[in-house]
Amino acid sequence: MIFRQLFDAESSTYTYLLGDPASGQAALIDPVLEQVERDLTLVRELGLRLTHVLETHVHADHITSAGRLRERTGCTVVASERGASCADLHVRHGDEVRVGALGVRVLATPGHTDDGVSYQLGERVFTGDTLLIRGTGRTDFQNGDAGQLHDSITRVLFALPDDTLVYPGHDYQGRTVTTIGEEKRHNPRLVGRGREDFIHLMGNLHLPMPRKLDVAVPANRSCGRLNS
Ligand SMILES: [Fe+2]
Repeated sequence: MIFRQLFDAESSTYTYLLGDPASGQAALIDPVLEQVERDLTLVRELGLRLTHVLETHVHADHITSAGRLRERTGCTVVASERGASCADLHVRHGDEVRVGALGVRVLATPGHTDDGVSYQLGERVFTGDTLLIRGTGRTDFQNGDAGQLHDSITRVLFALPDDTLVYPGHDYQGRTVTTIGEEKRHNPRLVGRGREDFIHLMGNLHLPMPRKLDVAVPANRSCGRLNS
């Protein structure tokens, strides 16, 4: 399998490329609008063709390139059944998305947003903003729910093998990957804290709103189309 981790510096967003060399099919997880040319160039250079975009959730901090990539390549846009209505394929927990020989398993992991999903492929899981490296997504907008986030992390993601590689939707400190075992032992939002304490903590973070919230959320509900 072909695997690449890509970074958008403005929003600190990770985009992931998954490719099946035998069939030439490829998927991008959480692509960013400003990086369309970079991403399509890489797909082409690796001898692949984009067949799927997988969204982990409706993002508030950047605009997705899903719609633009669909126009350019005819790819299938995949999102949660609770996610953007513009997606071609709405998935739920336990579904499998086939990208050539690659079977990507859908895990419902709501809480950061109500439409959050993670995607598991072999030894890797792509967690969007549900589980970050030594952190978690916030829960104070887009129908976020701290109790639900705690359940998604501790019951769904932490049920994966400890050596599963965790690739998050963002990192703001230069880290690229972690493991389930590492986060069980070292995630400061979770270690030594039960569900109620976690809910209390998440309710008192007092974070500033993302700069692009008012633009990004409506745009991403239509796969990245602005002014619609
Ligand atoms: Fe997010």
